[in-house]
Amino acid sequence: MPENIPSKRRKLPLFSSHLGGRAAMTCLYRCGNACDHPVPNESDNPYFGDVVAQAVSRRSLFRAGVVASVTAGAAGALAGSAAAAENGTQASGHGGARTGLRFEPVEPNTDDAVTIPEGYEQQIVIRWGDPVLEGAPEFDADSQTPESQAGQFGYNNDYLALLAHPENRRQKVLVSNHEYSDEPLMFPGYDGDNPTQEQVEIAWAAHGLSVVVLDEDRRTGALTPVVGNELNRRITVSSEFTVSGPAAGSDLLKTSADAEGTTVFGTLNNCAGGMTPWGTVLSGEENFNQYFANAGQVTDPVAKARLARYGLSGDASERKWEQFDSRFDLLQEPNEPNRFGWIVELDPYDPDWTPQKRTALGRFKHEGAGPRLADDGRVVVYMGDDERFDYFYKFVSDNKMKSGSGKRAREHNRTLLDEGTLYVAKFTGNSPAAEIDGTGTLPSDGAFDGTGEWIALAHGDESFVDGMSAEEVYVFTREASDKVGATKMDRPEDVEPSPKTGNVYIALTNNSQRGTSGKAAADEANPRNANKHGQIVELVEKNRNATGLSFNWNLLLVCGDPEDSSTYFGGFPKDQVSPISCPDNVAFDPHGNLWISTDGNALGTNDGLFSVPLKGESRGQVKQFLTVPVGAETCGPVVQERHVLVAAQHPGEIDGASFENPGSEWPDGPGSIPRPSVVNVTKRGFGRIGC
Ligand code: FEO
Ligand code: CA
Ligand code: CA
Repeated sequence: MPENIPSKRRKLPLFSSHLGGRAAMTCLYRCGNACDHPVPNESDNPYFGDVVAQAVSRRSLFRAGVVASVTAGAAGALAGSAAAAENGTQASGHGGARTGLRFEPVEPNTDDAVTIPEGYEQQIVIRWGDPVLEGAPEFDADSQTPESQAGQFGYNNDYLALLAHPENRRQKVLVSNHEYSDEPLMFPGYDGDNPTQEQVEIAWAAHGLSVVVLDEDRRTGALTPVVGNELNRRITVSSEFTVSGPAAGSDLLKTSADAEGTTVFGTLNNCAGGMTPWGTVLSGEENFNQYFANAGQVTDPVAKARLARYGLSGDASERKWEQFDSRFDLLQEPNEPNRFGWIVELDPYDPDWTPQKRTALGRFKHEGAGPRLADDGRVVVYMGDDERFDYFYKFVSDNKMKSGSGKRAREHNRTLLDEGTLYVAKFTGNSPAAEIDGTGTLPSDGAFDGTGEWIALAHGDESFVDGMSAEEVYVFTREASDKVGATKMDRPEDVEPSPKTGNVYIALTNNSQRGTSGKAAADEANPRNANKHGQIVELVEKNRNATGLSFNWNLLLVCGDPEDSSTYFGGFPKDQVSPISCPDNVAFDPHGNLWISTDGNALGTNDGLFSVPLKGESRGQVKQFLTVPVGAETCGPVVQERHVLVAAQHPGEIDGASFENPGSEWPDGPGSIPRPSVVNVTKRGFGRIGC
C-alpha cells in the first residue's frame, strides 16, 4: 500500500452503478450534466433554402480564386494521398487475422484492472500526480498543493500522442490532455458547496496538457518519465495562449483583462486531439460551458440564446470557480466563454512557442481534430462537435505545407490553420426514407449509405451565412450551421483519416434522444431511435479529393451486442465479433487497421479498446484488445508498431464514490485512491503488436 494512503479508506462495492452506461458522476463532472439539460440544438434542420444556394455559389467563386503556393516536396509527404498504397496486410495464421490483428480477444468483464491479451505485458507509464517538472514532489494524496500539481502530471488524461524524440533515439515524447477534475475523488472531505481556494487552484493546475519525455527500454519496451527534461511542460488553466486566425481581436473576444482579444489564459476540458503532418498537436476544448456561472441571469435575449446554444445555463457552476476568479462569472465577464471551445495547437518540440487557439476552425464543443494532407499539399482538418444533434466539420487551408523540419518550414506550417475555409457536413441517404424506420433494420439496398456535401460557412473575413458576420460564424459556429441545414448527428466524437487511404472514420457515440418527442427522427446516417450504442461512419471524399465539396459515406459499424438485430459489423458474421458500445476515440495502426476506444459501454461491462480491419473478407471483424478498470473510460489510444498506449480516464468514477470511499483501487492497489494513468501495452519480448 502506498504510505500516503490511509488504511481507513474503504472501497465501494464494485459495479453497482457502472452497469448500463456512464455513471451520473461522470455526467456531472465531465459534461456538466449535458444529458440532463435540454438539447442545445433547437433548430429545425434539415432544410434547404436560399441560404444554402447562395453559399454554394459563393463557395464556387471562392474555389476558383484559391491561391496556390505549392511547395516542392510536400506531395511526397502526403500522409493521406489517394495514391497511397493499399493496405498491405494479408490473411495468415491466428485464425486468418490480418497483420497487426493477431491476438486472442479479451472477454468483456467488470474487473478493477486493465485486462490485456495473452502474451502481452502492461506497464503504468505515468499517473495523476507523478512529477513532470524539475523540483516537483512525489504525489501525496493528503498533502496536495497548487504548486506541486502545477509540476505534476494532471488529472484525467485523455488524448495521447507518442512522438519520436527530436534528438535522442532512446527517448519518446508523450503529450497528454487533462480533460477535467473529479473533485470528490481527488480531495479528502470535499464539500461541493464550499470548495476551498486551495482545492480550486489545484483543479486549475490539474487541467490542461502535459508534455513528458520518456526513456524507452529497447529490450522490454517499458517507458519511464524523465523528470525535469527540457521539453517537459505543464499547460494549465493559467497558461498563456495566443488567439490566432480571423476572429483574433474580435470584440466578441475582448475582456477587461484582454482589451485586444488576443491573449487567453488557460485551456479547458481538452478532450481528444490529433497530430498535424508537421508534428504539432491539436487538442479540442470540449465541455467548456460547465465552468461559467450565471448564464441564467443574462437578460439580453440574443446573448441568452447564444449561451443556450452552447449549453450555458443556470446560476452557480458546479466547481464554483467564479468565487475565486471573476472571469468565470458571466455577469462580470460576458465574453470570457467565447475564448474557450476552440482547437488549440501546441508544438511539443518548441517550449518557447506560445500555444495558439485557432479561430478559423470554429468554436463548438470540439471533441478532437483529424488532420490530413490533401494531394495538392493543403491541410484538411476533420472535426466533430460532441453533443446530441450537433454537427461534423472540416477545415481546408488556403496554403500548402512546406516539407522538412527546418525552422522556416516549421514557422510556415504553424500558420496553416489560420487561413482557410470552414465547412459543415450534410449527409443524405440513398435509400427511401420509409426504409429507415428507426429500428436499425438495414434498408433493402443492404447498407446505411449515401452521399454528402460540404457547406461553406466562412473564409477569412467573408461569411457565407446570411445574417452573420464572419466573426460571428467563427465564434457562434453552431448557430451558423443551424442556418445552412447541416445534418444533426448522434454525438460526433473523435475522427481519424486513414493514413493509408485517406478515408475518414467518425465515432458517433450515442443519442438517447434520437426520435423522441419533438426531436429529429432516425435518418440513414443516424438510423436508430433512442440510440444507446452509437455507430462508426466511413466518409470517402468524392474522387478522393479531400479539398472537394462532396463525399460518399456508409456506416462501417452499428454498435451494440452482436445478438441485437439492430447491429451491423461491416457485413462480417456477427457471431465472430466482440460486442462494442459507445465508440469515442479512433486511431490507426501502422498496417491501416482502425482501433476504437469506448466511453460508457451501455452493455454493462467495462470500457475497452477494439481493433477492426477495413479491407477484405475480415472487414468489420471487431476484436477487443483490452479493457480498463471499473468506472474508467478508454482514452487516448496510440497504436504503434510495438506500443499500444491508452489513457485510463476517471477510474472509480461511479455513483457514491469519494476520496474516502473509492470506487476503484487501480492502479496502486488495496487501500489506495484511483489515479487516472497512462498504460503501455507491449508484446512479450517487445515484439510487433498483433504480429
Ligand atoms: Fe470528452 Fe466527447 O468526450
Ligand atoms: Ca442505403
Ligand atoms: Ca472523448
